[in-house]
Amino acid sequence: MSVTDPALVAPASDGATSRPRVFSGMKPTDGVLHLGNYLGALRGWVAHQDERDSVFCVVDLHALTVPEAVDPSVLRSTTRAIAALYFACGLDPERNVVFVQSHLTEHAECTWILNCVTPLGWLHRMTQFKAQAEARESVGSGLLTYPVLQAADILLYDTEVVPVGEDQVQHVELTRDVAVRFNRLFGDTFVLPRAVIPKAAARVMALDDPTAKMSKSIAAERAGHAIGLLDSPAVLKKSIMSAVTDSGRETRFEQAGPGVRNLLTIYQVLSNEPMAAAEARFEGQGYGALKKGVLELVVETLAPIQARYTELMREPAELDAILARGAEQARAIAAPVLARVKAAVGVGA
Ligand code: TYM
Repeated sequence: MSVTDPALVAPASDGATSRPRVFSGMKPTDGVLHLGNYLGALRGWVAHQDERDSVFCVVDLHALTVPEAVDPSVLRSTTRAIAALYFACGLDPERNVVFVQSHLTEHAECTWILNCVTPLGWLHRMTQFKAQAEARESVGSGLLTYPVLQAADILLYDTEVVPVGEDQVQHVELTRDVAVRFNRLFGDTFVLPRAVIPKAAARVMALDDPTAKMSKSIAAERAGHAIGLLDSPAVLKKSIMSAVTDSGRETRFEQAGPGVRNLLTIYQVLSNEPMAAAEARFEGQGYGALKKGVLELVVETLAPIQARYTELMREPAELDAILARGAEQARAIAAPVLARVKAAVGVGA
């Protein structure tokens, strides 16, 4: 069901082409974003912002699912920081709707209705829930119903395309299943969305364990795990130069081990070179040269993002005004869809 980019311009029913409605979001937990978030999602959002009718959200309600980990003042500032990073990475608030999930009541309201049509078994099968539940002594029901809130996020905007990294594909497929079930029970109400993942770097792996994906929560606990978008050049040097690789010299992608494949992928997508050119560049030089090449490119890519981020964070009132305008624009789309949903199930004034 998911396809890789580019799958941008959907044919309209009259045969003309229209800009497909896009929705995506990021969770403000465990500090700010890493290179996986950037390459798996954000970079593509920015690259295609002219071809799509896009709505992007900072999904702060999703951050409440592990309440023990929530520090209210940190959550508020991380939410603003993630919005600033969206803009610093090039997302233009004039060309996209950008808002904070909790600024609208529609998401929570729609979630309740969708909860009522979602079979429990579907939620127990979600791999992210299973992994998180295994890692904890007890879990709240919010963690289990997290994908239903995500379904509400997506369905409230008549979304056709959801650009995400590979780890979110299962949640988008669940969203589609929930929409199909709702439509069957209550009549045609929801547009059916599909996930779109990037061709390369849909799953950026951890530097310190290339068999696991780069993750915000582990990055918060372990130095050297991730490449943080706000890491200083000194921190980047330390984490990238000590990335786990095997002891060989193989730089051909297909033959290399997972750590080298991960570094080659990062190099290839940041340089926009074909993979064969990236392989040839480091052939026979040992992995130190590959790490150095990745480090240089990462520092060069992040420097302007970090500079813009610092500037934006100096003007929090301006950021808040942009997000307030975004919330109004989002509400103008979501409120009529929620009204449609309520009418379909027979509730509301
Ligand atoms: P979150 O905040 O964990 O991640 C944000 C985006 O980054 C992608 N991503 C990665 N891509 C490649 N490699 C990685 N190592 C990597 N880690 C994360 C994710 O796939 C995602 O696209 N449940 C979602 C947030 C959400 C959402 C939504 C997304 C809530 N509602 C509606 C889309 C539509 C999440 O926790 O993403």
